[in-house]
Amino acid sequence: MVMKDYYSISEVAKILGKSKETLRRWDRDGKFIALREPISEYRIYKKEQVNALLELFSGETEDTINNSVTPLKEYKVLELFAGAGGLAIGLEKSGIKCEALNEIDKWACQTLRENRPNWNVLEGDIRSFDFTKYANKVEIVTGGFPCQAFSYAGKKLGLEDARGTLFYEFARAVKEVNPLICIGENVKGLLSHEKGKTLDGMLSILDEIGYNVVPIQVLKAVNYRVPQKRERIILVGIRKDIEIKYEYPKPHQTIYNLSDALKKGELYNCDVPKSEGSKYPQHKKEILDLVPPKGYWRNLPIEIQKEYMGKSFYLGGGKTGMARRIGWDEPSLTLTCSPAQKQTERCHPDETRPFTVREYARIQTFPDEWKFMGSISQQYKQIGNAVPCNLGQEIGYSIVKFLNKYYSKVNKSEASISLAKVV
Ligand SMILES: C[S@@+](CC[C@H](N)C(=O)[O-])C[C@H]1O[C@@H](n2cnc3c(N)ncnc32)[C@H](O)[C@@H]1O
Repeated sequence: MVMKDYYSISEVAKILGKSKETLRRWDRDGKFIALREPISEYRIYKKEQVNALLELFSGETEDTINNSVTPLKEYKVLELFAGAGGLAIGLEKSGIKCEALNEIDKWACQTLRENRPNWNVLEGDIRSFDFTKYANKVEIVTGGFPCQAFSYAGKKLGLEDARGTLFYEFARAVKEVNPLICIGENVKGLLSHEKGKTLDGMLSILDEIGYNVVPIQVLKAVNYRVPQKRERIILVGIRKDIEIKYEYPKPHQTIYNLSDALKKGELYNCDVPKSEGSKYPQHKKEILDLVPPKGYWRNLPIEIQKEYMGKSFYLGGGKTGMARRIGWDEPSLTLTCSPAQKQTERCHPDETRPFTVREYARIQTFPDEWKFMGSISQQYKQIGNAVPCNLGQEIGYSIVKFLNKYYSKVNKSEASISLAKVV
C-alpha cells in the first residue's frame, strides 16, 4: 500500500471496507471525524487516524454471545425496592412476569403505575408488608436493598440479629415466600463494606433461611449491552433442596459507547428524544467549557485545578470523575442520582451541560417510551438508582435458564414416577 499522509473518503472506504455513506455518518455522529480539504471542503483523513481504526477493526470480533432463552412456563417474580423499574423492565423483557413490586418512594410508584397500569405496585415501607400471600406462588424474589452495617459482635449472624436493616426485610420476604431462587442486587462496595463483615452476615442469614449463595461475581454493565461503566454485584440464593447449577449471564464482546446510547444505531432506532434537563451553575460551566471530550480536571490550567478541586487537589488519587466530559466513542461513567453533583460531573461531549433526563434514561438503557414522574430531580434520582434495563434482561435470561433446567428435571422425575405407578 502506498503510504500517504492523507486519504480521500473513497480511499478510506476501500481500506476499511465500509461505504462512503457510513463514513459520512460516522463523521456527522462524531465517531470517526474527517478533516476538510481547505479549498474544496472535501473530507480527508490523516494516515494515523486510518491506521488507528484499522487496528481497532483487526481486534474487533463479532459478538457471538446470545444469552436469550424462552421460558418453559410462566415464571413470576416479587420485585422489592423496585424504584422506577429498571430491573423489573429487564426481567419483563426476558419473559418473567412481575407479580408484585414494592417501593416506598411515591414518585417511583407513580412511574411504575403510569407505565404499567396492570402491575401490582405495593406502595409503602417494606416493613409494613406481609408477603406470606405470595408463598409458593412466585418462583423468584429480587431486590436491590440499600446497604447498611449490622451491629453484631463476633458470632455467626442470624436473621433476628439483622432486625432494623433493609437486608433483614429482604431476607424476611424470601423466608415468607419460599422462592426457588432469590437475587439481591447491590453496589460493588458491599464486598468490602465493614471489611467484608456485612457481606458475611448476609450470607450466613441466607444460609439460615435455607439458601446457598452462588460465588459472587462483579457484573460490568458494559459487558451486557449497556453504554456505561457501571458495576454491580448480585447475591444469587438457590433454595437448598435444589441441585441445579446457576450460571451467570455470559459477557458480550460488543461494547457500546455514548454515541450508541444517544444516536440512531444498534441500541436505538432513532436519535435520543429532546427533553428537559438540569444546567450547571455559571461558574461550573465556565470551568467545564475548558475541558475537552474524554478530559477531566487535569486538563484545566493549574490555577483553576487548585481553585476547583480545593482540598482534593492535594489529596492525591486520580479522581478521574471530577470535572469530566464524556467522549462520543467511550461508554459513559456511572451515572449518579444527581447529574450536576460535585465530584461526579459527566458533561455532554459537545455542549457544556449535564445529560438531559432522556439522555440519562438512554445511558441506563430504559426504553424511550418509559415515562418518569415527579420533578426533574426526582426523575434523575429514579434513573440514577436503577439497574440498567439491559443488564436486568441478561440477569433475567440467567434466571429463566436456571428455572427451565429445574422444571425439566422435575417434569422428568414426575413422569418416571407416574410411569412407575402404571407399570
Ligand atoms: C437502588 S434503588 C432500586 C432500583 C431498582 N431496583 C431499579 O432497578 O430501578 C433502591 C430503592 O429502594 C427504595 N427503598 C428504600 N427504603 C425502602 C423501604 N423501607 N421500603 C421500600 N422501599 C424502599 C428506594 O426508594 C429506592 O427506590
